[in-house]
Amino acid sequence: MKNFLRALRYAWPYRVRLVISIVCAVFAAILWGLNFTSIYPVLKLLNNDQSPQQWVDSCIANCNKDIEQIEAVSDALNEKSKELEKLPLNKFVEQQRRAHTHALVKVESKLVYARKQMDWYLIAHKYIYAYLPRDSFTTLSYVLGFVLVGVFIKCIFEFFQESLVGSVVNLSLYDMRNRFYRNVIHLDVDQFGEQGTSELMARFTNDMESVGSGLKTLFGKVIAEPLRAISCVIFAACISWQLTLLFLILVPVAAFILGKIGRLMKQATRRLLERMSSIYKILQETFQGIKLVKSYTMEPYERRRFRAATYDYYLKSMTVVNIDACAGPIIELLGVAAVVGALLAGSFLVLKHETMLFGMRMSQYPIEPESLLQLYVLLAAIADPVRKLSSVFTKIQSGCAASDRIFFFMDKQPRVSANCEGPAFIKTEHGLCLDYSSRTGDMPFKAHEVGKPMIEFKGVCFSYDPGRPILSNINLSIYEGETIAILGHNGSGKSTLMGMVPRFYDPDHGTIFLSGEDLRNINLRSLRKKVSVVTQETVLFDDTIYNNIAYGTRGATKASIESAANKAFAHDFILNLPKGYETMAGESGNKLSGGQKQRIALARAILRDPAIIILDEFTSQSDPESEVLIHKVMKEFLKGRTSFVITHRLNTLEIASRIVVLDAGVVAAVGTHKELIENCAAYQRMFEVHGKRLSA
Ligand SMILES: Nc1ncnc2c1ncn2[C@@H]1O[C@H](COP(=O)(O)OP(=O)(O)O)[C@@H](O)[C@H]1O
Ligand SMILES: [Mg+2]
Repeated sequence: MKNFLRALRYAWPYRVRLVISIVCAVFAAILWGLNFTSIYPVLKLLNNDQSPQQWVDSCIANCNKDIEQIEAVSDALNEKSKELEKLPLNKFVEQQRRAHTHALVKVESKLVYARKQMDWYLIAHKYIYAYLPRDSFTTLSYVLGFVLVGVFIKCIFEFFQESLVGSVVNLSLYDMRNRFYRNVIHLDVDQFGEQGTSELMARFTNDMESVGSGLKTLFGKVIAEPLRAISCVIFAACISWQLTLLFLILVPVAAFILGKIGRLMKQATRRLLERMSSIYKILQETFQGIKLVKSYTMEPYERRRFRAATYDYYLKSMTVVNIDACAGPIIELLGVAAVVGALLAGSFLVLKHETMLFGMRMSQYPIEPESLLQLYVLLAAIADPVRKLSSVFTKIQSGCAASDRIFFFMDKQPRVSANCEGPAFIKTEHGLCLDYSSRTGDMPFKAHEVGKPMIEFKGVCFSYDPGRPILSNINLSIYEGETIAILGHNGSGKSTLMGMVPRFYDPDHGTIFLSGEDLRNINLRSLRKKVSVVTQETVLFDDTIYNNIAYGTRGATKASIESAANKAFAHDFILNLPKGYETMAGESGNKLSGGQKQRIALARAILRDPAIIILDEFTSQSDPESEVLIHKVMKEFLKGRTSFVITHRLNTLEIASRIVVLDAGVVAAVGTHKELIENCAAYQRMFEVHGKRLSA
């Protein structure tokens, strides 16, 4: 419930609309109740064959008669009590006097009531004579006409109420989705892996819809339906509040049952949403890996897997449907039982001309059959809003379950802090600098000192899962302009080590220094702006090639993009594409070959003009010819920049200033190609294997 209340906060900025919608709901409710009160005049007119004028006259005459009778009784009682006062005081007389006073008070109150009624009739008399026609049929058509107009106005109010509630809900969802996206996109790289992207997508779509439906129910029905019920209750209470109270006795029982059902509903919905996430997961996996599915002829297996997941979803959704379907009939049954109870009591009073029931006064005067019928209609009219309210609880509980799932992610904080206040890593005409101007006034810029390491790993340890170290005690110093080749077996931790430079992960122990400053203190955005990573799995968006190259470089010109593409040897093949630079790359760039994608990714990195470059096995998909070309580019491009190249290619090793050999998360050796080939046995082995492969 707590999280659903948090979701409610997103509606707060739109409270004015909400208030207007409530006002509309109030008017609609009043009109709803008022329309049902037309039953009484209609019945009266049909039953008595009197014109309204005759009716009001007869009412006044009856009332006058009543008043006269009561006055006569009252006079008689007064006489009697005067006589009693004259008698000498004894126990019997005192008793009689008390009884008389009691009777007198009762008669007086009857008189007051009758006079009040008389006042009402006189007012009615005035208006009925002034405005109503003399003929009962015309009057009846007037009443029905008023009902029609009333319903029309009510419908207008209802439309605005629903429309306003809808806009509040959708605007809240709009804000919530964007807020959620903003939160999620700032999470760390490994936090995405923890839950799976399909799980996240389910929360953005399916769960959001559930929250929206909960909010809509809350703002729409929870306010409007009780108002309608209350309006009927008030009109009913005007006829006989005692009988209405009898009807309301069952309200707490209904509330208790609804509470129980709601709790069941919340559990069932949570399970349902989880099943939807697994469907998303299967869809995502199979569609992304469609080539694998087809080539391994796994379609039947995937079909079975999907069928099992959707069947499970069907079962869970049936639980939800059944719980939801239970609520309506239970409430209806309770409602009808309450109406029957009240009607039974009312009929007893009408048929026996009684005003007392079980010793309790139920009305001042015997109830007319028309009034009872009117009461019955009003109480029955309550059934409709109440039945609608029964689904409210279940819907809100679904919303609660969904908002729990959304806020679970919303509450996650990135472990890598953005450090907006920290010194920015920038490039000036004096070279790379750390800009402290946001912190201190006296030494705004600290240029990188020549001869000191640009990047320094000091005792860096890291593990994804506790107890399984991936990197242990890494000590490395990299100087400005160096090209470092990183060599090691698969899984030795090369990509993990490089992921620490743009701070995808922070070390568990030890520190990485950039130009002498702890990487964790540096403004994260400025750092990432100066670091380019090109990986083996090149990522292209379904956009034009032009925009894919310009991704991440604000204000790139056409000339600069073409020059970057030229440097990456991509310009020629791009021009040969059907629409040149305006060709769409397709979803994840699937309209291009692996090597083409890599060259576009390289052009993107070149355009950014980074200070630090990380190339992670990025030439692995190029053919030998383009690899030679790319090497030419690299030699040019890496000049003057600090770069890390993870590769197994010999020619890359030759352009490296130093080579780092990683073995199971430990630095096995560091040195130039020449030094290592002489001193490092592991390097020699690797080199031999590659040499053989090349000559084979
Ligand atoms: N997100 C992750 N969660 C848990 N373990 C991971 C994750 N990414 C990589 N690993 C593990 O870390 C080790 C090093 O991976 P990686 O740095 O990618 O190796 P390399 O790039 O040298 O092939 C591997 O054993 C791999 O299983
Ligand atoms: Mg790797």
